[in-house]
Parts: sequence; structure tokens; C-alpha cells
Amino acid sequence: MTYLFGLIGYPIKHSLSPWIHKQFMEKTKISGSYEIYEIDLEEDFNKAISNLRDKQINGFNVTVPYKERIIDELDELDEQAKRIGAVNTVLNKEGKLIGYNTDGLGYVKSLENAYPDIKSTDPKVLLLGAGGAARGIYNGLKSSGYLHIDIANRTLEKAEKIKQTNLLGETEIITLEAAEQVLDQYDIIIQTTSVGMKPHLEKQIIKLDKIKSNAITSDIVYQPIMTQFLKEAKALGANIHTGHTMLLYQAELAFNIWTNKQVAVGNMDLKLQTILEG
Ligand code: ATR
Repeated sequence: MTYLFGLIGYPIKHSLSPWIHKQFMEKTKISGSYEIYEIDLEEDFNKAISNLRDKQINGFNVTVPYKERIIDELDELDEQAKRIGAVNTVLNKEGKLIGYNTDGLGYVKSLENAYPDIKSTDPKVLLLGAGGAARGIYNGLKSSGYLHIDIANRTLEKAEKIKQTNLLGETEIITLEAAEQVLDQYDIIIQTTSVGMKPHLEKQIIKLDKIKSNAITSDIVYQPIMTQFLKEAKALGANIHTGHTMLLYQAELAFNIWTNKQVAVGNMDLKLQTILEG
């Protein structure tokens, strides 16, 4: 069998997903291709999706700006996708399109790959930001058994909305200014906004001087891999977790949904790092 996978979004010409999935296909000896289907904002979205159905695509990823819009085109949604209200992976199961969200669980997998025993310490987590990425990570962590997750955001109402998506455990909503002051209460601090992304390399969402020395500091920005936020954390003696690994693990979970095959990410994070640092 030859598989057809792909990615929809806009703009996506520079996406790393084709590279990642090609590696996965080689590793699992699956033959197939992973195509870029850029859908212009003016295009008929419904028609673009029915074209993918006509091609009998086996599965596709969905990225910005279509992660929510795709939902109306699907026949079913899995539990994570429902809670998050966004889809990043679609499986074509004999003509039926089923939506999943592997962003949050991919994040958790990347974290636990780097810090295997972290969950057993019952860590207190702080999410910085309350956009789509934070929503995915919040639900991924909660459904994996992380119960103490607070959210700090510039707009408190947005954080409140995320809290409503999953009522397991406790969640406090605080301002970014308050987060700076109480940082020493947290074992894991996750930066989920685009602050610090190229070309704004000097930008940092909060100051970290009150961080615990053994805390894990995580940034989902991967361009650059070492953001100013992570540089400061490292200089203060904290542990760091880099954003490009989340990209690999959300892809690994998507590949598993499409093919039922387990693929080992192995040293792909180092290869991806080389590509990103180009
Ligand atoms: P995504 O879907 O990629 O997470 P998003 O939905 O636009 O992106 O969310 C962006 C997040 O980054 C939000 O939490 C936003 O804060 P607001 O909710 O107050 O808008 C946060 N954000 C973006 N730029 C920021 C900045 N300069 N300072 C603080 N927070 C910022």
C-alpha cells in the first residue's frame, strides 16, 4: 500500500512536517508521500477538503489558520479535539474524516521524553499565555494526570475560558506581573505564546529571577531554539526544555493515528535542530 498524507494551512511553504513524516516513513518502511496543500484565504475551503477526500488521502495535518475551521468539514471528533475545540490531525477512515488533536499530548510526550520521572513528582505547572497552543497543552497535561496547572495571561478572560475546558484538578488564573512574583512556587513553567520568536529575539514574556533552581523551563517557540526566555532560565540554573521537540512528538502521534505504527523519534531532535539552525 502507498500512503498519501499532507498538510493544510496558510502559509505553509516552509513547514518542517514533510521532512518529519518522510523520516517516519523511512523508519517504518512505509511507502508514501506527504504533500503540502496550501489553501489560500480566498479559496473555497469546503471544496479544498472535498478535493482531499477525492484523492483518497489517508490522513492530513491541519495548521494555522484552519485548526478550528476544519471541524465543520469532519464526520467525527475525538475527545481531545472536542475539549480543545481545534484539530491538527485528520484520519480518513474509509471515507469518514475523523479529527484529532495531538498538540497537547505531543507536548507531554516531548516533556516526559526529556524528563522521564517528572510526573511522579506531582509538579506544579504554570502556563504563560492562553491562546490555541496553551489550550492544547493545558488539556494534554490534564488528561495525562498533571492536576496542578495555573495560567498566567495578559488577558485574564482568555485564561478563564481555557480553565472551563477541563475541570480536573485545580487552576488559578493570574496576571503576568503576579506570575513573576510567585514564580518560585512552580516546578514547570511553560511559555506558550509567540513572544521571543524571530525576528523579536530580545523579547521575553516575563522575567525569571524568582525561578526555583531545579524548575523546568519550557518554551514552545523553536525559532530560535534557544530563546531569550530559555537563555535566562539556563543562566539562573534552571532546567530547560526546547520547543522543536513538541513538533516531533505531535507528528509522531499523528503518524501513529494514520498508520497504526509506532515510530521512534530517536535522534531526530538533533537533526531537526541542525536544520533549524541552518
Ligand atoms: P496561538 O494560537 O499560537 O497560541 P493566539 O491564539 O494568538 O496564538 O494566542 C497568543 C497568546 O500569546 C495569547 O495568550 C496572547 O495574550 P492575550 O490573550 O492577552 O492576547 C499572548 N501574547 C501575544 N503577544 C503577547 C505579548 N506581547 N505580551 C503578552 N502576551 C502576548
